[in-house]
Amino acid sequence: MRKYFTMLSLMFVMNIFLSCKGKITDSCATTEKVYTGTLSEVQSDVFNSFCIGCHGNITSNGGLNLSAGKAYNNLVNIPSTGSTLLRVKPGDTINSYLLRRLNASAGESPMPPSGKLNQSLINLVELWVSKGAQNN
Ligand code: HEC
Repeated sequence: MRKYFTMLSLMFVMNIFLSCKGKITDSCATTEKVYTGTLSEVQSDVFNSFCIGCHGNITSNGGLNLSAGKAYNNLVNIPSTGSTLLRVKPGDTINSYLLRRLNASAGESPMPPSGKLNQSLINLVELWVSKGAQNN
């Protein structure tokens, strides 16, 4: 019986450690990243990690290429194909189609299609757009 309890508490402790691995949430403050809202942060942590398989140089769904060096010219002040909005309107997070898709807001289906990203990554894109969507 004691052995059983020791095992259980060990598993409990391990679970706490493992659940924090690779996450960037409040409960794992030590691994939380502080973003400044640059395009290079968005490129490496969002586009390269979650988008370029479908929006890259080989396949660019919706006519959208988000690979490094292409993303800016495919987004900023460019009309979207799926709506009447611009993909990214600098300083205007509400009327940027990219953010509607990331947030699955205003009745839009989410991007990526498998489901919304971790909120901290959506916040990063929002920060980039609100700071003027610069090519930085
Ligand atoms: C599994 C494939 C897939 C992945 C991964 C994916 N997309 Fe898409 N995306 C599509 C397809 C297909 C379309 C075109 C149809 C549509 O609008 O739903 C599209 C359309 C879009 C559009 C609209 C473009 C326009 O001009 O109308 C945006 C914005 C977009 N994706 C952003 C993203 C972002 C940002 C990511 C990564 C976080 C992402 N997508 C990941 C498949 C994908």
